[in-house]
Amino acid sequence: MSKRPEWLDNAVFYEIYPQSFKDTDGDGIGNISGITEKLPYIKDLGCNAIWINPCFDSPFGDAGYDVSDYLKVAPRYGTNEDLINLFDKAHSMGLHVILDLVPGHTSWEHPWFKESMKAERNEFTDRYVWTDSVWEEPEGYGSLRGISDRDGSCAVNFFTHQPALNYGFYKPNRPWQQPTDSEGAIATREALKDIMRFWLSKGCDGFRVDMAGSLVKNDEDGKGTIALWNNIFEFLDKEFPEAAMVSEWGEPRLSLAGGFHMDFLLHFGESHYNDLFRCERPFFEGLGDASEFVKKYKDSRARSGGKGLICIPSGNHDMDRLAKHIHRERLKLAFAFLLSAPGAPYIYYGDEIGMNYVEGLKSVEGGYGRTGSRSPMQWDKSKNAGFSSAPSEKLYIPIDPSPDRPDVTSQLGDEKSLLNEVKKLIALRLKYKPLQSLGNIDFVCDGAPGNPLAYIRSLDGERIFVAINPANDPAEIKVNIPAAFNEIIYQSGNGGNFSGNICRVEARSAVWLRERDRG
Ligand code: GLC
Repeated sequence: MSKRPEWLDNAVFYEIYPQSFKDTDGDGIGNISGITEKLPYIKDLGCNAIWINPCFDSPFGDAGYDVSDYLKVAPRYGTNEDLINLFDKAHSMGLHVILDLVPGHTSWEHPWFKESMKAERNEFTDRYVWTDSVWEEPEGYGSLRGISDRDGSCAVNFFTHQPALNYGFYKPNRPWQQPTDSEGAIATREALKDIMRFWLSKGCDGFRVDMAGSLVKNDEDGKGTIALWNNIFEFLDKEFPEAAMVSEWGEPRLSLAGGFHMDFLLHFGESHYNDLFRCERPFFEGLGDASEFVKKYKDSRARSGGKGLICIPSGNHDMDRLAKHIHRERLKLAFAFLLSAPGAPYIYYGDEIGMNYVEGLKSVEGGYGRTGSRSPMQWDKSKNAGFSSAPSEKLYIPIDPSPDRPDVTSQLGDEKSLLNEVKKLIALRLKYKPLQSLGNIDFVCDGAPGNPLAYIRSLDGERIFVAINPANDPAEIKVNIPAAFNEIIYQSGNGGNFSGNICRVEARSAVWLRERDRG
């Protein structure tokens, strides 16, 4: 791993889907000024960093993950100046801002691709992954073919309108497969650095990297992609050592070796993240089993050699909303875990008030089933939940129609609300260092059926014991270490407490206990 920017040691991120956060010009879609206007809310929540989903020019076939100009803010969100102003305002409030970098593919409307489609050789001929005959498709990928005079098929990465950029093949086995050190592959890599340089020099604090593990092709073990990122991190370490990089990879042992400072546990991959929040019997709904998750998590930490941060998000724009699977008071238990876990926590906008997954929506901008997790933020009880002054039928995505939908203003006024609980939990995390990114974690109880999840977070001799029991029955945990976890710093439900070596955690409860005196 490259050197970790120090600000990540206590970072708590807030993910913003710009379309749906706050609309200040009444066109029914969120914008950059809306984010700027709401910075005090994010600060008050306690988050100290923001990740904004792609906000660049795009035909929006995949909500902006199909970029047509990496260097230009999409006009519907504002201008580059608005974004730079957002960086400045955020910095003046002690917040960091990372952007979403989509290095694997562009929109098929990107000027690079238009040039690349031409039969005549030009600067962009090798910018994408093309076969050398329209009759041959790139094995293992979808492709675009018969769309221009160029005799070849172009690999696509995700949707058909997202042609794959060429970073080379780790093990080329067809004549058209270029090695990673070919001129075309190197030119793509350097173009990516230019994009990063552009935004970092304007005040952006780093990037969340889309599909970061899939750039080099024919690269089963990730070795080619790791080498590519090592090269990019050399550039970053030299020119922008404070830039923070988080990968959408989901395999920390690979991403962190690539140099990333953080990797997400995600709804795909091997992490068993979904066992906790989104499956038929989620652990935090009091029904399931967290033990496979714990096993994988320990393994990931061991295999990544403590190098970078493994980040556990409350959700994101691709997953069902947390509140679809975890209900009412148990959401507090999920946050008691998220905000006491190592790595930097990521809160998906609206999860802090328990926003619903909106069922039955028509797909918007390639969202399909994801659309229900992307509905507008609910600020208050006014028109359009305070999101926009546009007529309701003009909103980007309709507001959650449920009569009891949560909103920020009501929850701020309710001492027992989820929002106030999340604020409390973040404040405690920021107060006690063992709870932050770098504190160690030792599991005491792995959340197997009938068992709570319990662990000790520690740093520099300071220790905090966390126990979370979402089940309907109280539980007892034997802790075989001499300790005096005698200061309750947080509790939810009926909490819990130690008697000798036994910690009792009540049903549907959580407790954080600080060790005051060792004895
Ligand atoms: C990532 C994004 C997702 C997008 C896809 C293609 O998984 O999170 O929203 O559709 O990549 O870029």
